[in-house]
Amino acid sequence: MLLLNPLFLTVIGLIVGIAYVWQCVTSPLQKLPGPKISLFTSWLLKYHEFRAQRTKYVHELHLRYGPVVRIAPNEASFATLEGIKEIYGSGGSGYNKTEFYNLFTVYGRRTMFSSLTKEEHASRKKILADRYANTNVMKSSSLDGIKERSQRFIERCSKSVGGSLDVFICLHDYAFDCITHHLFHPYGSDSLRHEMDEEVMKQVTFDDSLQNRLVQYYNPPLHKVMGNVLSIFAKPRLTPLADDLVISASGKTEPAQFTLLSRMQDKNYDMQQMEMAAECLDHMAAGIDTTGDALCFLMWQISQPVSFHIQRRLQAEILANPDVPFDKLPYLDAVVSEGLRCFPAIPMSLPRYVPAGGRTINGYFIPENTIVSCQAYSAHRINEVVFPEPELFNPDRWLERTGELDRKRLFFAFASGGRGCIGKHLALAEMKILLKDLYSRYTTLPDYTEMTPSDMEMADQLISSQPRGKKCFLRLEPLTEFKS
Ligand code: HEM
Repeated sequence: MLLLNPLFLTVIGLIVGIAYVWQCVTSPLQKLPGPKISLFTSWLLKYHEFRAQRTKYVHELHLRYGPVVRIAPNEASFATLEGIKEIYGSGGSGYNKTEFYNLFTVYGRRTMFSSLTKEEHASRKKILADRYANTNVMKSSSLDGIKERSQRFIERCSKSVGGSLDVFICLHDYAFDCITHHLFHPYGSDSLRHEMDEEVMKQVTFDDSLQNRLVQYYNPPLHKVMGNVLSIFAKPRLTPLADDLVISASGKTEPAQFTLLSRMQDKNYDMQQMEMAAECLDHMAAGIDTTGDALCFLMWQISQPVSFHIQRRLQAEILANPDVPFDKLPYLDAVVSEGLRCFPAIPMSLPRYVPAGGRTINGYFIPENTIVSCQAYSAHRINEVVFPEPELFNPDRWLERTGELDRKRLFFAFASGGRGCIGKHLALAEMKILLKDLYSRYTTLPDYTEMTPSDMEMADQLISSQPRGKKCFLRLEPLTEFKS
């Protein structure tokens, strides 16, 4: 009866409320700069997450409050070198990942990317790392596949001359064909030439499940009970065509020696077929949107009148050095670095838990189990000594000797430490080979009859970002001076 008494309930409510407020105002995070509301609730952060604007919101907080900012009662963001080193590099692979990465389990299994603890991660990485080492990526059997796919991209370009090309689609096709080549050649995809394969890519790339998966993260029981109703309003992630591809490919025999599949099929590692399929699906998804979007943002940028001189200089370097390998062209390297600085394909916070006992970061004591992170978007912009005029697309900054080390240290597009991007060398090879092939033959210009600049605004996905309109139309004009 007492439980139904309104007075009793009010008193209990008040006690709980006061205890909560007390806990917030005495929390060590209270000392961090940040909006007052973030001391009491994470709702504002979640609101921006659901609107696919978390990255920009966190960045605005950094601009307002500085390189260390409290973003929720139990969460802080750092845009400092010390933060990067401590969170992602201490002890080799930094702090453990949070349950956010549960959203990336595949077929009910943890992959290397979604493993939470150092131990789990290290044992899987020991198997896989070899195939992503630069020495393996640079083998001719591996590179020839990328070069062949780049030529197929050029064929699509040549067919579009006189009209325009949606490079958003074609670049994702290219990234898809390159990653499946690296995962299971000769069983990879050919989406640049075959529509059925392109459908597989589209299923992964046009996924719109951000809101659904955020509910799953923040309230798993609600997601379980309400999953079907929820999917009417917020689509779940469904990739049946991609599932068929990886499950079938991972059962095939005698993949090429440089592939990830050949490594996983090695009897010494005793991996089950579904474990291999899960790992492949994960790497496939990781390899499509990142490389595809990074190239897309970059090509859009250098097609704008404001950056046109950059495109011309890139063409001049490539044309003057036809026999120099793609990885030995300094201006191409600078353009790619600047592209990844301004438009990092994974621009947002990579959440980690502060270990037992708490840690001091940038002079602030952060208690254990607080969620801490850095985001590339802010790390690449906040320090104007290291990156002057941060909003300016300026590849020249990467050619200057002064400040070189600081720029490299704050460059966080591939994250850093033992859990940084394993596909970095592959991604860079894919990007440079394509840009070299393309800009030795064509000039690219935006086609505003098919789209508006707002289509190229950055919109958050679950961890990566994409152009909001999911399209990018460029006109390709052949370079007359090109000699084949
Ligand atoms: C421009 C292209 C790319 C960018 C900007 C990028 C960026 C990143 C970042 C920031 C992380 C850390 C994520 C985190 O801690 O939550 C990561 C991890 C990872 N990336 Fe990439 N990536 C790119 C291309 C690729 C490619 C082509 C692959 C191919 C397999 C790949 C596979 C992975 C994997 C497997 C991990 C997890 C590594 C681990 O947990 O040890 N990435 N990537």
